[in-house]
Amino acid sequence: MAESTLETASGAKVAEEAAAAVRGGFDAYHEGFLAISRRARQRFEAADWAGLMADSRERLDLYPAVLRRVLDDIRASLGARAQSAPLWTAARSTYSESLAGHPGAEIAETFFNSVTRRVLGTVGVNPSAEFLDFQFARVPGPLAHPALHVRSVAAGLAEAVAGLLREVGFGVPFENAAGDAALVAGRIEAQWVAGGAPAAIDGIELLDPVFFRRKGAYVIGRVVGGNRAMPLLLPIVHGPRGLRVDAVLLTEEDASIVFSFTRSYFHADVAYPAEVIAFLRVLMPAKPVAELYAALGYHRHGKTEFYRDLQRHLARTDERFDIAPGAPGMVMVVFAMPGYDVVFKVIRDHFVPPKQTTPSEVRRRYDLVFAHDRAGRLVDAQEFEGLAFPRARFTRRLLDVLTATAGRTARVEGDTVAIGHLYTERRVRPLNLYLEDADPADARRAALDYGQAIRDLAATNVFPGDLLLKNFGVTRHGRVVFYDYDELRLLSECRFRALPPPRYPEDEMSDEPWFHVGPNDVFPEDLGRFIPFAEPLRQAYLAAHGALYQPAFWQDLQTRSAAGEVLDIYPYLPERRLRADPG
Ligand SMILES: Nc1ncnc2c1ncn2[C@@H]1O[C@H](COP(=O)(O)OP(=O)(O)OP(=O)(O)O)[C@@H](O)[C@H]1O
Ligand SMILES: [Mg+2]
Repeated sequence: MAESTLETASGAKVAEEAAAAVRGGFDAYHEGFLAISRRARQRFEAADWAGLMADSRERLDLYPAVLRRVLDDIRASLGARAQSAPLWTAARSTYSESLAGHPGAEIAETFFNSVTRRVLGTVGVNPSAEFLDFQFARVPGPLAHPALHVRSVAAGLAEAVAGLLREVGFGVPFENAAGDAALVAGRIEAQWVAGGAPAAIDGIELLDPVFFRRKGAYVIGRVVGGNRAMPLLLPIVHGPRGLRVDAVLLTEEDASIVFSFTRSYFHADVAYPAEVIAFLRVLMPAKPVAELYAALGYHRHGKTEFYRDLQRHLARTDERFDIAPGAPGMVMVVFAMPGYDVVFKVIRDHFVPPKQTTPSEVRRRYDLVFAHDRAGRLVDAQEFEGLAFPRARFTRRLLDVLTATAGRTARVEGDTVAIGHLYTERRVRPLNLYLEDADPADARRAALDYGQAIRDLAATNVFPGDLLLKNFGVTRHGRVVFYDYDELRLLSECRFRALPPPRYPEDEMSDEPWFHVGPNDVFPEDLGRFIPFAEPLRQAYLAAHGALYQPAFWQDLQTRSAAGEVLDIYPYLPERRLRADPG
């Protein structure tokens, strides 16, 4: 019966209604998203960090909330007819026509797919009811929504920088705009000369939207001259007497660290995401498009881009998924392909002691990380449902582990492996493996950054729970990050305690504690007995980070975080800053 729906005029009308329902939902989402993103400017000007964090949560909640509403409407008005794939094929063409010239067309297509995947319960991809590949050609050219404008340096570089600071138009004055502009110009000149060929600087190309995250605003563009170009990112922060340019970032690597997959998403007034992403790609050619969409807050569409990229990789190689290198997880089965920078994590059906958690509790922790400030130290995990891959693309040993320990989530069905739920994360080098073959200087750097990672997490109210090296990794920029969330807790949930003094000398020898330990108790001094470095690294590490093993360190941060203080975390090297700490 469903198949015949569209052969009648009323069938065509139903398809139009369905398309209109999805379009209405998308418009509500899109407007809501832009309204929240735009507010970031006022939040920044007012130094309203709590407001910005609330906005960030509201924005993350928006897509699922609108989606639910659209699904309810469609199910209520169409009933069983909603499950007809041909209906959605017809609705897709109507919907697609309605998007002609829409600057967020690719986001709209992803939204349509979200609807049909749920209505039809799609596992894998349904080519008749989803948009498969975004056609950039259908979007108006860059001139239709110019996000970029060019500043001449004819009156001198410092004047050009001063001009752009004025143009950004913050409602709060700079402490010393001319002074900042001169310092910025000096850094640009020096880097330009150091970069080679002596072509003169012709101008600065700037993105119109300013990017906001945490306590910073980022002006983004590039310096051009002759046939050369160099990224330009100016992080702006509040100083005691007004705004100041805090740093100058002039390399792809510096830009890439700001846009890292370990940071929360930006808020920016981007009218035409594809155009802004095309520009960001020029600054950071190695950054996956999926991560750039996510960085703009369009992580749903980021997932679409990721999925397409994965399909291309599967089509272009004959690589197979295999168990990821490193210590196997007790909670997760983690797999990867050798030539692809992503790991896939499936929650096991059961956990053995000492793990006391449950699959739904694990998901809750991953959700928490998703909505929390990731501080440059927590790897972004994207959630996928209903994936299907050819069985031939899995190694035997991986299939054995999946079916034996995660059979409720991963099923072999004929030639296909259907995976009900998984997380993807950017692959990093597990820290235990990294240290096995790092030279002493790299090992030292990594050990010290491991301590700094724990500090940065603590500054954002996060206690990682499991501090073993196998749960940390090293990014391609050499930064230490954390990826194992099942024991992660908010500082505000923990009780940091000093070890009670032993009652008898034997107490200290005992493996069992001689005092009561509650479920949320953490004994930093006890953690100090398991510092994971051998001498001489251990000494160097303790000299820098010994404080982590004292309850006072954690208690102090608990107090400050409870008082609403938002601590500074800079997504760039200290030497990129124009001045020492504000204040
Ligand atoms: N993002 C990643 N990049 C590279 N390897 C990873 C990543 N995430 C996990 N791994 C690898 O998979 C292993 C298990 O992952 P993870 O620690 O997240 O699982 P788990 O089951 O929670 O572990 P545990 O038993 O320590 O609680 C890690 O020890 C590491 O070797
Ligand atoms: Mg682990």
